[in-house]
Amino acid sequence: MEPEVLDVIARLEMRDQQERSLGLVGSDRIQAVHPDSGRLLYVLALAKESKSIVEVGTSHGYSTLWLAAAAKVNGGRVVTCDINPERIAAARQNFADAGLADVIEILEGDARETLRGRSEPVDLLFIDSEKSYYETFFDAVYQRLVKGGMVVADNAVSHQDELEDYISYVENHPNLESARVPIGRGLEISVKLTA
Ligand SMILES: C[S@@+](CC[C@H](N)C(=O)[O-])C[C@H]1O[C@@H](n2cnc3c(N)ncnc32)[C@H](O)[C@@H]1O
Repeated sequence: MEPEVLDVIARLEMRDQQERSLGLVGSDRIQAVHPDSGRLLYVLALAKESKSIVEVGTSHGYSTLWLAAAAKVNGGRVVTCDINPERIAAARQNFADAGLADVIEILEGDARETLRGRSEPVDLLFIDSEKSYYETFFDAVYQRLVKGGMVVADNAVSHQDELEDYISYVENHPNLESARVPIGRGLEISVKLTA
């Protein structure tokens, strides 16, 4: 990976760790995914040669950078969604610092709305956002997900109760196979069986 990407990733990891150790509430933290989850997303996107990646929940762009680094290798791009203008501004700066701005498109606003009306196929969807909307975010993209396309949802272990409906939804979906992976805060990984 390019050193400028690793530099921004390291900076965000340090900040996230400090904010967590200070016990700040979620809204006062950058709320980055666990580093192990970031690296797994990178490896999954590389392994699947994902070109069209969608993310719900940008924050300062930590997970986006892992996904975008893989998208760049794959000749693809990431569409990332966030509702918070201040976080988007910070993410935009981080994408520029990492030299990855050209492979990232930011959709600003409520992803339940901004994701609708798009038509391009999606290879990989990553959800790390408002827990009560995971199903809605999933539904907004599902039709565009290709055969073999993957949906990764964060916090499947740390917030298992809040995500109970989502987890049950994907685990009982007839066109998905899913597995809960206890890495970081827990990832629910689902694969679409037929287009
Ligand atoms: C946990 S943070 C994302 C962290 C990011 N994935 C990372 O690893 O750095 C969740 C983000 O979801 C955003 N969010 C909450 N509700 C949203 C919605 N309805 N549409 C889009 N973004 C939303 C919040 O503003 C917040 O920045």
